[in-house]
Amino acid sequence: MRFVPAGCLREGMETAKPLYGRNNEILLMAGIRLSQKYIDSIRRKKFSGVYINDDLSRDIDIVNTISDELRIETSRGIKKLFMEIKDHNDPRATMKSIVQQVDGIIEELLANKNVMVNMIDLKCFDNYTYMHSVNVAVLSIVVGIAMGFEREVLTRLGLSAILHDIGKVFISSKIINKPGVLTDKEFDEMKKHSQLGYDYARRRLKLSQAVCLGIAEHHEKFDGSGYPNGKKGGEISRFGKIIVLTDIYDALTSERPYRGAQSPSEAMEYIMGGVETLFDPRVSTVFIRKVAPYPVGTTVLLSNGDTAIVLENYEEVCLRPRVRVIKRGDEDVTPFDLNLADDYSLLNIVITSTVSDDGAF
Ligand SMILES: [Fe+2]
Repeated sequence: MRFVPAGCLREGMETAKPLYGRNNEILLMAGIRLSQKYIDSIRRKKFSGVYINDDLSRDIDIVNTISDELRIETSRGIKKLFMEIKDHNDPRATMKSIVQQVDGIIEELLANKNVMVNMIDLKCFDNYTYMHSVNVAVLSIVVGIAMGFEREVLTRLGLSAILHDIGKVFISSKIINKPGVLTDKEFDEMKKHSQLGYDYARRRLKLSQAVCLGIAEHHEKFDGSGYPNGKKGGEISRFGKIIVLTDIYDALTSERPYRGAQSPSEAMEYIMGGVETLFDPRVSTVFIRKVAPYPVGTTVLLSNGDTAIVLENYEEVCLRPRVRVIKRGDEDVTPFDLNLADDYSLLNIVITSTVSDDGAF
């Protein structure tokens, strides 16, 4: 299978994975042939694209970072928790199941710990907050595993990450859902969410100081330019240093009311540009090794004009995957595979972009 961006979908293409809607209901099953009506609906709902099975990609297997079931169950749990806190209901039972779900995520990630993360997000535009919380937890745990954290520390890190924006419950929904850029006053109000989240997690949920600090510090930047306290470098807790990065990465790769989603490689370039200014160098190095800038199944443009599908990524050379060439310029060719990582005759070829707009197929 491969990932086909929404702008490149054509009638008759066959879906390879289900597509879920805002309440995690299945909008499209796997194995369906796309009609124009389906394609229009996918674009209207602002999905970035769909996994497709075709002759070029039938042998490409794309491993989910975590299973769809767990991802959906966890995002439902987070939604329930946010609602309960908003309505002043007792969230203790929901918190218990969230801890179990975080442990489930850790188990699944530990089972695949040598695999690079393939984050092509099929989340629907409408359920951003909850899916975002789950993604930030997944990415943070991936970093924690790669940094060698103990099992109990991973649970605390996952909890801190999944709850990082819990303070937004206490901010006016007018500000949270504003489709445009916030005014200075609104932004000052918004900034209060990290401290409010810390206070709630500490006093009401009685979570450990490490978990609460991750929540309080998820907008603190390595150079001291973040908020709420302008902490820098070693003053920021290790959870805070991880969550600030994974939060920004997932936000950049998501469609927002005021801007489109960036591709994983564009977001990774932002992360690379922020090493030692915005982000802790050690956390960034681990993140760059573990998260694929060109996920398996994405279509890329090479500097020699060829179009290719990514087949496999390597941690040491994340910008040079194994690929399958499917087009030479505008001409279709008999597909053939190249390994950009270890074939020295290909050293002058680089990936120039991810194919994400119309007209490339
Ligand atoms: Fe936040």
